[in-house]
Amino acid sequence: MDFASVERNEWTNSAVAASYAEGFARAAEMCVPAFVDRCGGAAEVLDLCCGHGIIARALVDAGMKATAADFSPAMLELAAARVPEARIIEADAMALLFDDESFDAITIGFGIPHVPDPPQVLRECWRVLRPGGRLVYSAWRGPEAKTAMVGVFQAIAAYGDPTVQLPPGPGASDYVQPTIAGPALEAAGFEDVVYDTVPSKWVSDDPAAPYDYFLNGTARGGFLLRQQGPEFARSIRAAIVAWVEKNCPGGPPWQIPIPAGLVTATKA
Ligand SMILES: C[S@@+](CC[C@H](N)C(=O)[O-])C[C@H]1O[C@@H](n2cnc3c(N)ncnc32)[C@H](O)[C@@H]1O
Repeated sequence: MDFASVERNEWTNSAVAASYAEGFARAAEMCVPAFVDRCGGAAEVLDLCCGHGIIARALVDAGMKATAADFSPAMLELAAARVPEARIIEADAMALLFDDESFDAITIGFGIPHVPDPPQVLRECWRVLRPGGRLVYSAWRGPEAKTAMVGVFQAIAAYGDPTVQLPPGPGASDYVQPTIAGPALEAAGFEDVVYDTVPSKWVSDDPAAPYDYFLNGTARGGFLLRQQGPEFARSIRAAIVAWVEKNCPGGPPWQIPIPAGLVTATKA
């Protein structure tokens, strides 16, 4: 199975969508105020890869007009319930259905890591933004930060079944790295790129919470974890618990860091 098929299969699964919304997304929610702030009162905003609609909800609450787009009908159903004021559209981020210069701002919360060709999404965003418009997107920070993301994927690499591998695709944190994002944004036509970090985290009484969040509510993590036999799964879970106990002193409740990178760029 290729990367695009893994992503589509996982996100269109209504159990994965619901679990993401209930568990994993508690950390994503901490980034929502920064998205609203970076949109700077834009009149009309496209929330791309909208998921269950947490950013679109906040944009509408702040007085902006929101269009929420995603390729997962299961996610769009959750978004429609959360933000009935928004225009809800099924769309692939790599081939947007909108006319040129349709929006004043675009938000992409944790969507860029899931598309097979992020530079194509950046080009599409530039096309549908009006001059002066802003693109704001996020992705989880990588190994340079203290993050449960690394704790989980290191546990899978060290203790998982070596025959279970992801198909090749973009790295989960690539497009919050200036060395990768900068040239891609510039090639798409963007200027004035700003990089921020949001210190998002989970707070849980269960040190195995990251294991459950990745198992049940993510595309890549779920794909890898659901294929492990019971022995491998037990070892991975134990390694994640050990990571939390070592890296999140003071629990319970455990303050489990999963910081996000936030990138803002402007179409001149
Ligand atoms: C991690 S969730 C993020 C949801 C929400 N934006 C948030 O901040 O919590 C990623 C979302 O991207 C969507 N997605 C992944 N690839 C996509 C694509 N090629 N086109 C449109 N949506 C896509 C998934 O369906 C999923 O809803």
